[in-house]
Amino acid sequence: MIESLPDQYRWASELEAPTIAPASTVLVCGMGGSGISGDFVRVVTAAEGVDVRIHKDYGLPAWAEHVRPVVVAVSYSGNTAETLSSVDAALDYGLPVAVVATGGELTRVAGANDLPTVRVPAGMQPRAALGYLVGAVLRIVAAASPLGDPVPMLLEAGKETADLLGVERAGPGHDQARRIADALAGRLVAVWGSAGPTEVAAQRWAKQFHENAKTPAYWSIVPELNHNELVGWASSHHGLSSTTGLVVLRDQGEMPEISRRFRLTADLVGPTVQAAVEVWTTGTSVLARSATASLIGDLVSVYVAEAAGIDPVPVDILTELKNRL
Ligand code: F6R
Repeated sequence: MIESLPDQYRWASELEAPTIAPASTVLVCGMGGSGISGDFVRVVTAAEGVDVRIHKDYGLPAWAEHVRPVVVAVSYSGNTAETLSSVDAALDYGLPVAVVATGGELTRVAGANDLPTVRVPAGMQPRAALGYLVGAVLRIVAAASPLGDPVPMLLEAGKETADLLGVERAGPGHDQARRIADALAGRLVAVWGSAGPTEVAAQRWAKQFHENAKTPAYWSIVPELNHNELVGWASSHHGLSSTTGLVVLRDQGEMPEISRRFRLTADLVGPTVQAAVEVWTTGTSVLARSATASLIGDLVSVYVAEAAGIDPVPVDILTELKNRL
């Protein structure tokens, strides 16, 4: 499924963009592997000064009734309770709504209310459909905002991810991911990024560790972690050094102040952290840089799962919870 990511970005570049009335703010509603598409689009559009906000809960945030954003509801299955509830609230408020899904209740509601809908190809795990979902949301946001043409960045994301993957697991991304997976296997991992492409990539890494490698993981960003988290990593009294590891995501476009913080932070935690790896974004556009740093995490999470003899695909416990709710 990861190997199909480049084609997913290309698919989105060829999509016919739906017609949507422009709005000053877009609110992307979705959960988990679908909802993170909003985070990717927020990072891309922030660089262009377009206001995209994220909602990952039932209903809508209180401000939505007054600010009146375009609501983009994204759910791969089309059956996620929180996302359906957000659409209900948006329709109650009379807000413009667009939908991204493979089918399910969400497309039924969209059909009944004549909402612009992008149907993405079905048959995958939602988190593996990242390129379809990010691409579809991006095309909708571009239609509803002054964002420039997103096609070049989608094509670049397709090319950069294809270059990393190569053919038959022989690309440089696979080599890098295997090395990192060796260093991190069996450890609880924290992934660090900074505002922009590596912030969303750090989030994606942690969530792919959760669902593919079936391990806890968390993410955070510089400079905030320099004001709290650093203390724990630079200490040794807890004896966690042998069971934890750090992934530091670096971006070609990061501010010099951020580069300096990363360097100094690495010096300070060096004596106490046994396993630390650095991964750099590649590509030019914010989307391509986010996509490449994320792709390495996707691959690492699968290699870690394979090394532990775990099938990365099923997430039965999530389904069990949904069934029990
Ligand atoms: C499964 C996954 C989950 C789902 C989430 C929401 O691969 O990544 O995080 O994405 O439970 O479901 P959907 O995406 O169908 O709205």
